[in-house]
Amino acid sequence: MSLRYAAAPLEGITTFVFRNAHHRVFGGVDRYFLPFFSPAAEHILTNRELRDLDPANNTVPNLVPQVMTRRAEDFLWAAEQVRAMGYREVNLNLGCPSGTVVAKGKGAGFLGHLEELDQFLDEVFSKAAVPVSVKTRLGIRNPEEFHRILEIFNRYPIAELTVHPRVQKEFYKGALHRDLFAWAMSESRNPLCYNGDLVTVEDCFTLKAEFPKVESVMIGRGLAADPALLRKLRGGSAATRGEVECFVQMLYEGYCVAYGQAGPAAQRMKELWFYLIHLFRGGEKQAKAMRRLKQPREYEQLEASIFRDLELREAVLGPLV
Ligand SMILES: Cc1cc2nc3c(=O)[nH]c(=O)nc-3n(C[C@H](O)[C@H](O)[C@H](O)COP(=O)(O)O)c2cc1C
Repeated sequence: MSLRYAAAPLEGITTFVFRNAHHRVFGGVDRYFLPFFSPAAEHILTNRELRDLDPANNTVPNLVPQVMTRRAEDFLWAAEQVRAMGYREVNLNLGCPSGTVVAKGKGAGFLGHLEELDQFLDEVFSKAAVPVSVKTRLGIRNPEEFHRILEIFNRYPIAELTVHPRVQKEFYKGALHRDLFAWAMSESRNPLCYNGDLVTVEDCFTLKAEFPKVESVMIGRGLAADPALLRKLRGGSAATRGEVECFVQMLYEGYCVAYGQAGPAAQRMKELWFYLIHLFRGGEKQAKAMRRLKQPREYEQLEASIFRDLELREAVLGPLV
């Protein structure tokens, strides 16, 4: 299947530790998107942001940083920072549905201020020295809002427009509005990338059959749940127990080093296991225990019991919410 595969940004999960380990153990990803950073008005990158962006910490060839802001000046500053680090594209987040983000008119919240968004894009595209791509939803409440939104996007040379065909109010659940993605396929002047609910190889084949012209897809939760998904799509093998164990070990050790202590490392692992547990048959009890645990020791015991007691599946059963 001649598709380009991107790993979606998942805040708290797809850190540089995850991306490096995933690329090394499973591969199959053409591009990894970094979770967003939101530049402060003082124009300072935090240590955490710098650590994730620093090319010295990243061993993955194709990386796209993502910025979330409603101020063109801050976006342009951030774009210049990442350009100077050697990045060749910067992505604008217009999709984050979180209440606190939306209340500030950022992420998907910016889709509720279309005149301001148009002015923002006008300034960004007239001044940015690096190609700018956009990741968006269909709107805030009603999918039909996308008609006006796409009209605005069509005024600018967006390097790639990734569409998650849900509105902000739908978060990550419920039926996708694929009819509007189909409409966008015929109306967008910019190249489109599809994102949403691709969890198995079959899901990707169905998407390609439905949209034969789509060239690019982005996968988030499906890849966290089945890290070999994209390798399988390229005709490769399913994840083995040894690989998953090695991947998980690389992550936990990497986080222990990055944070200098096991507590926050175990918290990071919990977030990944929310999805990864779906790759194991009958992991409901462990999933529940994982959500409750507090101490790194408990985490280590639980992780060991998953690998000892549970059988690995060939593929994940969706949905992953
Ligand atoms: C825990 C979590 C964190 C996310 N963080 C980001 C982010 O930093 N930037 C972004 O554009 N989208 C973010 N998303 C949205 C995903 O990139 C993606 O659009 C969404 O999960 C739908 O795709 P999927 O069905 O393949 O997972 C996040 C989603 C989840 C569940």
